[in-house]
Amino acid sequence: MTEFNAFAAQLLRRPRQVSALAPSSPTLCQLMAGQLPRWARRVAEFGPGTGNITREILKLGIDPGELFLYEVNPVFCRMLRDRHPDVTVFYEPAEALAYHGPQQVDAVVSGLPLLSMSAAQQQAILTAAFSRLGPDGVYIQFTYGLFSPLRRSVADSLGLEFTRSPRVWRNLPPAVVYVYRRKRN
Ligand SMILES: C[S@@+](CC[C@H](N)C(=O)[O-])C[C@H]1O[C@@H](n2cnc3c(N)ncnc32)[C@H](O)[C@@H]1O
Repeated sequence: MTEFNAFAAQLLRRPRQVSALAPSSPTLCQLMAGQLPRWARRVAEFGPGTGNITREILKLGIDPGELFLYEVNPVFCRMLRDRHPDVTVFYEPAEALAYHGPQQVDAVVSGLPLLSMSAAQQQAILTAAFSRLGPDGVYIQFTYGLFSPLRRSVADSLGLEFTRSPRVWRNLPPAVVYVYRRKRN
């Protein structure tokens, strides 16, 4: 099955979980992976889906043994394990990074549908991510919305600030990439 067909089939079965019309475009995937700090060695990816951002992360030279994926869709997990046997794929929600997986990561790359999540779920996911990110670690997220997909209350509780990219028009729908990091004192 092609990536697109697998994605479309899962979108029909689990629309709220997948929450996108199509896999992210090569332009958006390259922009997401391109936000990784040059010094990043160990990376977690949330909601990798069919693995199109995963591929770009690996192309940048991240060692497959240092890449940890968290995905709740069993069909996508099987595809990811087949395609990337040296990458660790957890069939678990993103929140599991807090207790299952590496003790420390340099960056989190997220394709999660944050916009459609409750404040409590956003809080659990971002708290898990920043419990494993070092002081200079980054959380990279795309959104189709007009504003930061992370609620202000969640960002404030963790002391986060962000930068945002220009809109990527070569994506369906067009998207913006946000990079969240801890505020410096
Ligand atoms: C919008 S799709 C993004 C897929 C891919 N990264 C891309 O950019 O094309 C969202 C993905 O997040 C996954 N997902 C949703 N909630 C999740 C959660 N709590 N933990 C991990 N993955 C989740 C879905 O199964 C789906 O694969």
